[in-house]
Amino acid sequence: MGTVPTRGRLGRVGTIRHEAVTLEPEEIVRYEADPPRVVLLDQRRLPDEVVFECATVGEVAAAIRNMAIRGAPAIGVAAAYGLALAAARGEDLEHASATLAASRPTAVNLAWALERMRDDPTSARARALHEDEVGRCRRMAGHAADLFAPGTRALTHCNAGGLATGGYGSAVGALRTAWDRGLLERVWIDETRPLLQGSRLTAWELEAAGIPHAVIADSAAASLMAADEVDCIVTGADRIAANGDTANKIGTYSLAVLAAHHDIPLYVVAPTSTVDLSASSGAEIPIEERAPEEITARFPARNPAFDVTPAELIAAIVTEHGVHRAPYAQSLAALV
Ligand code: MRU
Repeated sequence: MGTVPTRGRLGRVGTIRHEAVTLEPEEIVRYEADPPRVVLLDQRRLPDEVVFECATVGEVAAAIRNMAIRGAPAIGVAAAYGLALAAARGEDLEHASATLAASRPTAVNLAWALERMRDDPTSARARALHEDEVGRCRRMAGHAADLFAPGTRALTHCNAGGLATGGYGSAVGALRTAWDRGLLERVWIDETRPLLQGSRLTAWELEAAGIPHAVIADSAAASLMAADEVDCIVTGADRIAANGDTANKIGTYSLAVLAAHHDIPLYVVAPTSTVDLSASSGAEIPIEERAPEEITARFPARNPAFDVTPAELIAAIVTEHGVHRAPYAQSLAALV
């Protein structure tokens, strides 16, 4: 994968140490026609370095697999651009689609986006899909912010921001809208072991948005809840089953159990591209196991990247259509 110079406001190659910027959707991932390529922001290097990578179809799949681009909606968008790239190069689209679909297993947005590209595998279709996802984020953020009382101290896990959605963000979008409405006091950010999406990416995005925040060790969440310093938990999702069971970054389930114990609501904010009504429950959601070396290169390790939060621990699921409450089998079924 080659590196291309950064452009525009990120108009320097290499490092932008500690400089916070709010990214435009095309600065996160985009298609370029001449020569045909997908250009993406390598999220593994944030926040210390901002580098755009140049990708072939196989490289797009690799970028998703190795998490240069990550977050459920964003990998769907990247896959859509990847399929457009395959079409522009006259490649076998079935093979390209299968390669992209196999890059990560848990987020249903990948298959969802590739299915929408099937009858029109053009960069224009991919760009429209990208714009639609950002529009969904803005709408769901508005609905989610309706759940915030003035002075809310929210806790979030992983990164469900613009980086993860291709612009604006789902859970972080809700935080941004709540902040704009004057409802948010501060955000606690789980650092999110082992790849630190919280302390590297969410903190960077909240800094850029001017939202008061503090990074905490994942294991500090319980004591903050016990000290009455958390009013709600807001996360994104990688796949939501028909009964409301929700797969999200490993550690979300622990937060949900803790939240139930402390009587704190946990809200899941995600676009309908994340809802998989063909999975009747969380038991049918494939959970990605990543390389043990991400945990430790010295000892044996297990590295499940996601867990499933049972629907009964989720106070509300918020999509672009509104706030959905239990029983989710009914409230989610109404989405299609
Ligand atoms: O492994 P990641 O970083 O791709 O995991 C991302 C998450 O778990 C996010 O919370 C989820 O994709 C929602 S992004 C809006």
